[in-house]
Amino acid sequence: MTKLLGMTKFRALSLRAIALVLALSPVVAMAGEEGAMASAQVDLTDKASLQRGAALYMNYCSGCHALGYQRYSRTAEDLGLTADQVEKNLIFAPGARIGDTMATGLDADQGGKWLGKAPPDLSVVARTKEQGPDWIYNYLKSFYVDESRPTGWNNTVFPGAVMPHVLWEMQGVQHAVTEPKHSAGGGETEACPHGEYQGGCITGFTIPEHQKGTQDAEQFDRTARDISAFLAYVGEPAAIKRESMGVWVVLFLAFLTLLAYLLKAEYWRDVH
Ligand code: HEC
Repeated sequence: MTKLLGMTKFRALSLRAIALVLALSPVVAMAGEEGAMASAQVDLTDKASLQRGAALYMNYCSGCHALGYQRYSRTAEDLGLTADQVEKNLIFAPGARIGDTMATGLDADQGGKWLGKAPPDLSVVARTKEQGPDWIYNYLKSFYVDESRPTGWNNTVFPGAVMPHVLWEMQGVQHAVTEPKHSAGGGETEACPHGEYQGGCITGFTIPEHQKGTQDAEQFDRTARDISAFLAYVGEPAAIKRESMGVWVVLFLAFLTLLAYLLKAEYWRDVH
C-alpha cells in the first residue's frame, strides 16, 4: 500500500513538473520575439537539402566567396555524391580539381576594389554568427531596394551591407514597408527594431506584382534554407557524423535501460 501511495505521489509530482515546463516555455519563446530571427529549420541529416544548397552555393556565391577549408572531395563524400557528379555540377573554377579547396575565381584585391570590400571566406561564417545558420537564412531573405546604396540594395539584417542581392531573380524585388517613427516622451525618437528607410521604421517587405521572382515565398524560403544548411555543414563537417552517431548512442542507452530493468526484475523475483 505504501508503495502504491509513493507511486501516485511520484506521478503527481512529475505531472506538476511537466506542467511547469509547459507553462514556462511560451514565456521563453516570447522573450526572444523582439527583433527575433525566423528559424531556418536547418536539418543536417537531410542530404537532398545539403546537395541543393551546395549547387546553389556554387552557382550564386562561389564567384565571390571562397570556402578555404572545404575540399570538393570531402563534400562529395559527406553529401553522398560521386566524384563525377561533383566534377560535372559543382566545380566551376577553371582548372580546379576534385582534391582542391573551394577557392573563388575572384582575387581578393580585385573584389575589394570593385565592391569596396573584399568578400570574406565563408568557411566558418555559420559558426561565427551568434544566431548560426539562422542569420544567413534571414540575411538572404532581407534584401530590399535602396537607391541610396552603391549596389541599389540594402539589408535589414546587415544594414549597409556591401554585398548585392544575388538571388533577386528568384525572390523578386523587395521594397521596404515603413511606418513613421513614434517619438518617445522627451521628443527623442525611438530606434527602429528592424532599421529605417527614408526616415521611417521598416515593418516589412512587399514585392510588386510586376517585380515578382521565379519562385514564390515558400520556394524561396527553401532556397535560403538549403544554402544556410550547406554553410552550416561546411562550418562543421563533423556535425553530420555526430548527428548520425547520436542515434546509435540513444539506441544503446535504450538497450542498457532494458537490460537494467530485466536485471532488476530478476533480483526482485528472489526477494518476493
Ligand atoms: C558580387 C560578389 C558577392 C556574391 C556573388 C555574394 N556575396 Fe556575400 N558578400 C559579398 C561582400 C563584398 C560581403 C561583405 C559585406 C560587407 O561586409 O558589407 C559579403 C558578405 C556576406 C556574408 C556576411 C559575412 C560576414 O562575415 O559577416 C554572408 C553570410 C554572405 N556574404 C553570404 C553569401 C551567400 C550565401 C551568397 C550566395 C547566395 C553570396 N554571399 C554571394 C559579396 C558577394
